[in-house]
Amino acid sequence: MGSYRVSNYSFVLFILFLGSFASSFSSSLHPLVFNSKVEHLNHTAISEFRVLNRRFLGDCPNPSPYLKISTNSSASGLGDEEYVSVNVSGVLRPSKDDWVAMISPSHSDMSSCLANGILYAQTGDFEKLPLLCHYPVKAAYMSNDPDYLSCKKKECKKYQNGRCVVSTCGGSLSFHVINIRTDIEFVLFSGGFVAPCILKKSNPLKFTNPNKPLYGHISSIDSTGTSMRVTWVSGHKEPQQVQYGNGKKQTSGVTTFSQHDMKSSALPSPAKDFGWHDPGFIHTAVMRGLKPSSSFSYRYGSDSVGWSDQIQFRTPPAGGSDELKFLAFGDMGKAPRDSSTMHYIQPGSLSVIQAVANEINSGNVDSIFHIGDISYATGFLVEWDLFLQQISPVASRVSYMTAIGNHERYALLLLPIH
Ligand SMILES: *[C@@H]1O[C@H](CO)[C@@H](O)[C@H](O)[C@H]1NC(C)=O
Ligand SMILES: *[C@@H]1O[C@H](CO)[C@@H](O)[C@H](O)[C@H]1NC(C)=O
Ligand SMILES: *[C@@H]1O[C@H](CO)[C@@H](O)[C@H](O)[C@H]1NC(C)=O
Repeated sequence: MGSYRVSNYSFVLFILFLGSFASSFSSSLHPLVFNSKVEHLNHTAISEFRVLNRRFLGDCPNPSPYLKISTNSSASGLGDEEYVSVNVSGVLRPSKDDWVAMISPSHSDMSSCLANGILYAQTGDFEKLPLLCHYPVKAAYMSNDPDYLSCKKKECKKYQNGRCVVSTCGGSLSFHVINIRTDIEFVLFSGGFVAPCILKKSNPLKFTNPNKPLYGHISSIDSTGTSMRVTWVSGHKEPQQVQYGNGKKQTSGVTTFSQHDMKSSALPSPAKDFGWHDPGFIHTAVMRGLKPSSSFSYRYGSDSVGWSDQIQFRTPPAGGSDELKFLAFGDMGKAPRDSSTMHYIQPGSLSVIQAVANEINSGNVDSIFHIGDISYATGFLVEWDLFLQQISPVASRVSYMTAIGNHERYALLLLPIH
C-alpha cells in the first residue's frame, strides 16, 4: 500500500476470485466432505479423472490379439511443443470405456502401488490397494474420435475363402505434448476411469532435448525497476547463463529436489507418491543494471544445452512514478490444449492468458500480479510444467509476481515461481 500511485486512466484490474477460500476452509473442517467427487465435479472443474488413482487396476477380459497403439512422432524425438497423433487399431469391440493415457516417465510402475494405505487415507481415500500408483499426465476417451465407436476405420485381419471373417476397428487421438524432460508413453486402457485395465502400451517417446532450458519467467526483486530475476527450468544441473542488454550476462544458481526429499518431509500425498514427477533443475539469475520503464532483450541457456529464443521484455516504472499499469488476478490455473482431461482443469485460463498477451502486445501492462491459486497442480508436479509453459508468453516479458493462495500451501514449497 502506498508504494505506487496509480493513474485512474490506465488502471487495468481483473479480479477473478472464485471463492476457493471458502471451500478450502471447509476442507480443514470436513476433509471427507471436501474430497467427495460430487462436490468437486459440481463446484469446480475437477474432472472425473481426478479420482483415477483411487481405482483398482484390474485385468482386461479377452483382449484382442490384434491390438496396436502407435504414434506419428518423428524418429528424432519429440520437440518442445507439438501435437502427437496416437493411433489405436486392431480393436474387436470398440467401447465407450476405452481411453488412452499419457504416462511419464515410461518406466513408471502402473501395476502395483506403495503398500502404504496411510498415504492414501490422508487424501480421504479408503479404497483397497493396489491402486494406479503413477498418475497419468492426462487422458482422453477413444470416443473423442467420432469414427471410433461407429468403426469407420475397419480393417480385415483374417480371410477365409476370399471372405473377411475377422475385422477390427480403430481410431486416433491428438495430444498436445510439451517438453517435460522425462520420456512418455501412451497406454490404451479399457474399463473407463472407474474400472481401468491396461490393454496395450506404445513404445516410449523421448524428447529430442530433455535438457533444454524452458519456461523462463521474470519477476521484480525490488521497486527500482533496475533489476529483474529470470527463472527457468532445464534437465541439466550445471549452471547456465542469462545474456541480456548490451552484452551483459549472469550465471544461474541451480536448485532441485528429489522424491526422497518429499518423502522425508511432512508433505502429504500425492506430491511424494502418485503425483510425483521429476521437476528437473530450477535455474535463476538476476539481470542488474537495467533502466526502469525500458525494453531490453534476453536469452537463457548455455552452448551445451541450447538457448531460449531472444525474448523482449519491459521493466516496470520505478517506485514513486505517477503511473503503473498492471493486471491482477487470482485462481487462474491451466487447461489442456487438446480434448484430453487432467486431474484439475481451469478452462478459462487459456482465454485469460490470451487476453493478457493482447494487453502486453498493446503496451498496456507493466506488471502482472497473480495473487494466489496459481497452477492448481495441488501435488501433481508435472502440472507445474504445463502451467509454466502456458504463462511463458506473458511471464517472460513483464514481471510476473505471485502470492500464495490456499492451493499453494504445499505447492509453493515444491516449485517457487519467482
Ligand atoms: C451435483 O449436480 C448434479 C447435476 O447438476 C445434481 O443432480 C446434484 O444434486 C448435485 N449434487 C450436489 C451435492 O450439489
Ligand atoms: C502428427 O499429427 C499431428 C496431427 O494430429 C500433426 O499436427 C503433427 O505435425 C504430426 N507430427 C509429425 C511428426 O508428423
Ligand atoms: C492407424 O494404424 C493402422 C494400422 O497400423 C493403419 O492402417 C491406419 O492407416 C492408421 N491410421 C492413421 C490415422 O494413422
